[in-house]
Order: sequence, then C-alpha cells, then structure tokens
Amino acid sequence: MSKNIILLGAPGAGKGTQAIKIAERYKIPHISTGDIFRKNIREGTPIGLKAKGYIDGGKLVPDEVTIALVDSRLKESDCAKGWLLDGFPRTTAQAEALDKIAKVTTVVNVDVDLNKLSDRITSRRVCPDCGGSYSTVTYSNSNCTCGSKLVQRDDDKEETVKSRLQVYANSTAPLIEYYKKKGVLVSVDGNKAIDEVAKEIAKVLG
Ligand code: AP5
Ligand code: MG
Repeated sequence: MSKNIILLGAPGAGKGTQAIKIAERYKIPHISTGDIFRKNIREGTPIGLKAKGYIDGGKLVPDEVTIALVDSRLKESDCAKGWLLDGFPRTTAQAEALDKIAKVTTVVNVDVDLNKLSDRITSRRVCPDCGGSYSTVTYSNSNCTCGSKLVQRDDDKEETVKSRLQVYANSTAPLIEYYKKKGVLVSVDGNKAIDEVAKEIAKVLG
C-alpha cells in the first residue's frame, strides 16, 4: 500500500528536519507548502505575490490558494506511490479538501513543548540557494555546506513567530483531534534530539 503521510506540528517542531529523512527512507516526495510558497516568492510568480503578505505577517495563505496548489502537486506522477505532506493541512477546511483528493494513511504529530518553539525558530538559519537548514545552536559557520551565505527566514523574526504560534493554536492544533477521530494519528515526542525523534518516527511508520 502506498504511504500517504502527513507531518503535523507547530512552527519549529522539526517537521522539515524530519521530513527529509522520511522522504529519503520511503522514496516518496517531500511536499512542503511553506517551501513551495517561498520558491514562488523568490521567483516572483503570481502565487508568490499573493502569498508574501500573509507569510511575512505570520498569517495563513487563504485556503483556496493553498488547496489548489496541493491538489495539482499531488496529481504529479512522482506522487503515485505515496507522498509526505509537511505543513499541509493547517486548517479543517484544508483537511476536508484533502480527504476528497486522497486517502491519508498516517498522520505523524511532532509534539514539542511550546516554550521551546520560539527559540528553535529564531536560531534557524537557511540557505537561500540549496534550501539547507541549520540551527545556530549546533552550527556556528555563517556559510552553508554548499558555500552560500546563510540567512534568517523573513518570518523567523520574533514578532512574526508570535503570530505564527497563535495561528497554529487556533487553526491547526484542532487537526490533532480531527485525525485522532479518524484513527490515523500517531504522536511522537519532538522534544528529544533530532536522531531520537527520527528513530521514533521510523518505528511508528514501520
Ligand atoms: P512553513 O514553512 O510550513 O513553516 P512552519 O509550519 O511555521 O514550520 P517551520 O518550517 O517554521 O518549522 P518546522 O517544523 O519545519 O521545523 P524545522 O525542521 O525547520 O510555513 C511558513 C508559512 O507559509 C506559514 O506561516 C504560512 O503563512 C504559509 N503556509 C504554509 N503552509 C500553509 C498552509 N497549509 N496553509 C496556509 N498557509 C501556509 O526546525 C526548526 C529549527 O529547530 C531548525 O533550526 C532545526 O535545526 C531545529 N530542530 C529541529 N528538530 C530539532 C530537535 N529535535 N531538537 C533541537 N532542534 C531541532
Ligand atoms: Mg518547515
């Protein structure tokens, strides 16, 4: 059976970090709506222009834009044998729309204490060229391993992070219950070290 996996979790929970490992392990595409929006913003596409104000303000991009984007991405041929969604769905309307598009096999909820999230996000540095992501806590070099200079994501500034965490609590956290009721939710302790979390996820995904 194909693996159609969702990674659920607050901003900074480690979804992107774990998604890379899961996608590699199961040879399925890693689909991060945040990454797709950021790429569109860099390239100045109509979707990017629409999304930028919302993202910079720490708000959600409207459902109709995001749902259409994911709908068309999941129709691409590399998704035929499964996929991993990172950062989608984020609202009940998105989850209901996804139910009409495909069958979700497992939802992995990466559970991290609220007081850790803000520090993780403000310590993050990303590579604008290859997409690499680092924490200043564990990586002190100002350049990526590809050689480019690391930058802070525009929405990783403290004020915007507050808004993102609020949006998560109001709009996205209810999805934990939504998927629990459907019997597809598994929670992992995302407070542990990156490799420990990865081991726990590998165990639950089989
Ligand atoms: P998106 O890019 O999805 O951001 P997010 O959900 O806020 O999540 P992050 O990317 O900040 O965190 P993460 O969980 O991936 O953590 P990471 O692995 O990087 O979305 C951005 C914006 O796009 C949204 O605000 C919204 O505007 C828009 N958008 C996206 N999807 C949308 C949707 N469906 N609907 C509407 N709008 C949408 O880790 C964070 C840091 O912690 C890193 O530095 C990492 O090295 C470190 N770290 C990771 N794991 C650990 C660990 N176990 N221990 C210690 N440090 C760790
Ligand atoms: Mg991410």
